[in-house]
Amino acid sequence: MARVLAIESSCDETACAVVDGLRVRSSVVASQIEVHAPFGGVVPELASRHHLDSLAPVIRAAIEQAGLEPTKLGAQLDALAVTDSPGLVGALLVGVQAARGLALATGLPLFGVHHMEGHLFSAFIADDSTASEPEPFAPHLALLVSGGHTELVEVHGLGRYELLGATRDDAAGEAFDKVAKLLGLSYPGGPIIDRLAAEGDPSAVAFPRAMLRSKDFDFSFAGLKTAVAVHLEREGQPRSRAELADLCASFQAAVVDVLVAKTCAARRARGCERVHVVGGVAANAGLRARFDDAAAREGFRLVTAPLRYCGDNAAMIAAAAAAHVAEGRAPRVVVQSSVALDEARATP
Ligand code: KG4
Ligand code: ZN
Repeated sequence: MARVLAIESSCDETACAVVDGLRVRSSVVASQIEVHAPFGGVVPELASRHHLDSLAPVIRAAIEQAGLEPTKLGAQLDALAVTDSPGLVGALLVGVQAARGLALATGLPLFGVHHMEGHLFSAFIADDSTASEPEPFAPHLALLVSGGHTELVEVHGLGRYELLGATRDDAAGEAFDKVAKLLGLSYPGGPIIDRLAAEGDPSAVAFPRAMLRSKDFDFSFAGLKTAVAVHLEREGQPRSRAELADLCASFQAAVVDVLVAKTCAARRARGCERVHVVGGVAANAGLRARFDDAAAREGFRLVTAPLRYCGDNAAMIAAAAAAHVAEGRAPRVVVQSSVALDEARATP
């Protein structure tokens, strides 16, 4: 089992973690939510600058919480890892340069990890050594739903990922954040809409379910965002909390309907017996409940990432790297702002 220290800085979370294989020894995340909230979204330049400020204390805390000696990392760890793609390039570079510095100082090999491969591993990691034995990594079908991605990936093995479908425009999390902004709610909008939706009526407003009946496994959420904007133009902003909750519930139901239906269709087409739901949007209570129902109805095994590891963190990055270390993969780091998971391993 490889012991790995990883750094994650692809977007607006500065994170560092230490794992033993799939077991998390420490996971420290410094969120920049307060920095970006006034702008209603992530400002790349501010993200890079804040990563620079936060990274050293975050790394120090992760080393300390894992019970490691800062001066003996070379002997106490097997490898270092860093998210190298995809993400905001300036933000990625801060993490990558810090990781290269650590590699130079310790002599440890440095593995670049695809951010979405990290999210795949978020469904396997555990804080507790007494946790039950995790499922085998493959085969499974993964729905990756985050602020930057919405992808259906069939996982055939480590590094063997087949992209079945993806969003053609906005990611699901991006739709939550943009609709929250239209409603005058804070950033990130996902958790706020999720809470309000629990109080509302999902059938109050009939929003479109884009591409629900298309034969492929692609998604589209930009039209739904426009439908909310058009509704607000016509009806004005909600006049009460109850009206706001109804709007949130109706919007969320439209997103969840499409995510669940498309995932189930892909599962049936591919004959997958296990479905994983990972990424920031996997924290959504409505989505989790609907997947629970679908799993019970269709008889498949459902694995959702623990809430603590749905959002960006470095433990999932370290766990992915540990799996590659165990397989004897050669370390390499390739920074790219956008690259699909199925292309990532083919890049020389
Ligand atoms: O995976 P993540 O932390 O970062 C990316 O890789 O993008 O995902 C962040 C996204 C944001 O768009 C946020 O609004 C959304 O996940 N999110 C949620 C919830 N919690 C976070 N969306 C819906 N419901 C939630 N409870
Ligand atoms: Zn992410």
